Amino acid sequence: MKKIILLFSVLGLLAACSDEPATGVDPQNKTEVVRSMDFAAISRGGQLFQQNCAVCHGQQAQGLSENWRQADQEGKLPPPPLNGTAHAWHHPKRVLVSTIKNGTAKLGGNMPGWEGKLNDAEINSIIAWFQSKWSDEIYAAWYKRDQEFK
Ligand code: HEC
Repeated sequence: MKKIILLFSVLGLLAACSDEPATGVDPQNKTEVVRSMDFAAISRGGQLFQQNCAVCHGQQAQGLSENWRQADQEGKLPPPPLNGTAHAWHHPKRVLVSTIKNGTAKLGGNMPGWEGKLNDAEINSIIAWFQSKWSDEIYAAWYKRDQEFK
């Protein structure tokens, strides 16, 4: 297990629900984040993602459309990127897990639920895989939210 210590300013990212990551580090507002890289889980998660998720979210979790905020004629959103360039990092871990388990049909969306098809360890490894694609800065911003909204 490799650990990487990150030191980042996340205030700018959290001030608004902004999709533009703030750049630069404010020395007054540093957050220390320990980023765990469990490479066995990440590699397993990558396989599971290809088998179950890539058909909609893209092989590299890049999404299928750059216009992922644009709903179609039925008001349904396209599968967004999960690679740190879209919105997924705004969600604390428990919300990511519940979205994956429940899907979005009840909310009027298009994503199937995976409860009963993928177990908790598998879901965790998939999340670890797409999070491994996030920049350190995005990961640090997510981590802060995750701590706040537990
Ligand atoms: C049939 C297509 C489809 C498949 C397969 C699919 N998704 Fe999705 N997913 C979507 C769509 C569409 C959305 C956007 C939300 C909505 O439905 O309105 C979404 C949203 C999400 C979100 C929330 C992202 C955000 O920015 O809030 C996560 C996390 C996610 N999917 C993970 C997964 C994972 C993990 C898998 C595989 C286990 C998967 N999805 C499989 C279609 C799919």
